[in-house]
Amino acid sequence: RFQQRYDFRTYRQYFGTAADQGTLSVSQVSNIVRANFGQLTPENSMKWDSTEGSQNSFSFSGADYLVNFAQTNGKLVRGHTLVWHSQLPQWVKNIGSASTLTTVIQNHAKTIVTRYKGKFFHYDVVNEMFNEDGTVRSSVFSNVLGTTFVDIAFKAARDADSAAKLYINDYNLDSVNSKVNGLVNLVNSKRADGVAIHGIGTQAHLNAGGAGGVQAALQKLATAADEVCVHEVSRASSNDYLTVVNACLNTPNALVWGVSDKDSWRSGQNPLLFDGNYNAKAAYNAIINAL
Ligand code: XIL
Repeated sequence: RFQQRYDFRTYRQYFGTAADQGTLSVSQVSNIVRANFGQLTPENSMKWDSTEGSQNSFSFSGADYLVNFAQTNGKLVRGHTLVWHSQLPQWVKNIGSASTLTTVIQNHAKTIVTRYKGKFFHYDVVNEMFNEDGTVRSSVFSNVLGTTFVDIAFKAARDADSAAKLYINDYNLDSVNSKVNGLVNLVNSKRADGVAIHGIGTQAHLNAGGAGGVQAALQKLATAADEVCVHEVSRASSNDYLTVVNACLNTPNALVWGVSDKDSWRSGQNPLLFDGNYNAKAAYNAIINAL
């Protein structure tokens, strides 16, 4: 239903959700996804520990399932995520050599993006690389390569699929704060160096009542990139969902992080648009009425 009113083909906007084989195998979930959402992202199946748990031994079954579901049902698919400090296998964390880590990032990004060339319209190439104060988070990637890991990852993805839009994604970008400023500065400087960062994603795992600064933050982020998307909205009240949707209508795209509260990684916090019995919640109806 969102998608009928939210015509992404005309307005370059969509309303999506996150899922994987486990949740899509529940008929209530797949029915909700078919009826409501225009875009899907793999909740976990494309993370490094799922795709390349040991070096150069790739597993695509979870991502293939999601892509097949999306294609069969006419949904856009968004790749999440190529380089992230979390859900990262120990063998990557142990790398101490810059040249080895460079090759490992290149091989990981190239192998995945090449396999799905033409199928994913977006990738979160780099996820969560900032601290709250806007400095770069300590990880094997930044510790060994400084911020050049960003250049390496985006170039490898770009070389493998020149049509996909490439994103940098982070959380707590819900008002104009130090993290937003750090991210904007990095994107400006990398783009000036020719790195193909097309879009900035903001996760918006809000605390209830925390959506008031979202639009200003989106506008600030949009100064640095061609596109801005709200990804992973959760834990929001009805009003927050509405505020985020309106901010998106004024700027970019929205992706809800999951379908039912039952399956959410934040299930105790009433985060999503469908309750544990797969019934639409007040927030769902508020959005439908607003669109
Ligand atoms: C979460 C998944 O939803 C959980 O199932 C998993 O256990 C942990 O990761 N930021 C992100 C997402 O970019 O990939 C995370 O997803 C939520 C926070």
